Amino acid sequence: MRRLTVRSAGGSYPVVIGPGAIDVLPRILARGPRPSGLFLVTDSRVARHHAGRLAGRVGQNGLRLARVVLPPGERSKSVRQLERLWRALVREGADRGSCLLAFGGGVVGDLAGFAAASILRGVDFIQVPTTLLAMVDASVGGKTGINLPEGKNLVGAFHQPRAVIMDLEFLETLPAREARAGLAEVLKTAAIRDAALLRRLEREREALLRLEAAALEDVVARCVAIKAGVVAADERESGLRRILNFGHTLAHAIEAAQGYGGLLHGEAVAVGMAFALCLGRRIGITSPSLAERLTALIAAFGLPIGLRGGAVSRILTAMSRDKKRGAGGLRWVLLERAGRAVVVDDVDPQTVQQELKSFLGGRS
Ligand code: GLY
Repeated sequence: MRRLTVRSAGGSYPVVIGPGAIDVLPRILARGPRPSGLFLVTDSRVARHHAGRLAGRVGQNGLRLARVVLPPGERSKSVRQLERLWRALVREGADRGSCLLAFGGGVVGDLAGFAAASILRGVDFIQVPTTLLAMVDASVGGKTGINLPEGKNLVGAFHQPRAVIMDLEFLETLPAREARAGLAEVLKTAAIRDAALLRRLEREREALLRLEAAALEDVVARCVAIKAGVVAADERESGLRRILNFGHTLAHAIEAAQGYGGLLHGEAVAVGMAFALCLGRRIGITSPSLAERLTALIAAFGLPIGLRGGAVSRILTAMSRDKKRGAGGLRWVLLERAGRAVVVDDVDPQTVQQELKSFLGGRS
């Protein structure tokens, strides 16, 4: 079992990683102020496979557990489901001493986290991620929020959890497509911050795709350590944290343009990274050999590196609403070399448009 600490101005908290990590939940609940009530927020897929295991651990503290179950999928990160969740919490008697357990993937974590940040002006929550993507990225760092039809994650808050518990046994029921989507965020983390991790991903690709516990535990812990370091330096994304958005400028636009019902977030990030590599090469920041090496690696992980039928105009409109804009226009995270990213916000919009058109196959 690995233990790390995330330190930030908004709070410091433990991250526990390993098979069976959920066993630490009773101890975490016993530490610090005893919650007046616990509210499990999950989706129907996770509830079916794993809710019994979680409820057993909570029962050890003699705490009553109320449950709110959401439909699975990105479309649940909506005003509608947030309202449903707020109202259910109030009906179930939530008060300021309540604690929410966000039990699921990134969608559940972001939505439950934002409900925790906003209900009664803020209550505690604990992240118990059950997908690889949520473990290596979404559950750490305190970003919470929902999507609007106009754009991804446009409403939200920074709200750090009380703890993050990553039980790798929950990954046993993860569909292969979701595992690959999680590996996209692993590739992102390595690409922007850790050349040695990138070489490891090249070497251990097969084992990681099979979610073999030994390889996975190390890699998850390394990604969390990298993210914790970035968040400690820049919790509110006014500088360094922007590099975590490598691949996300296009990814968020694709997801919004598809009405959140097309590519999974990690798949969209894979396409977005492939595009950022093209753009970086075009403006002379990324070497052709690095762009080729990484694009090949993304594809070798079974992830998309292009988009069939992506309408350029709809994607450009969605990109223009991106909250990552700088004063000079869209903000791009590009790769200078393996393990080193730069943030560029003065890329000529015409260059972006031309590159996007050729990347998406010329459709407008
Ligand atoms: N997912 C990017 C971040 O947490 O900043």
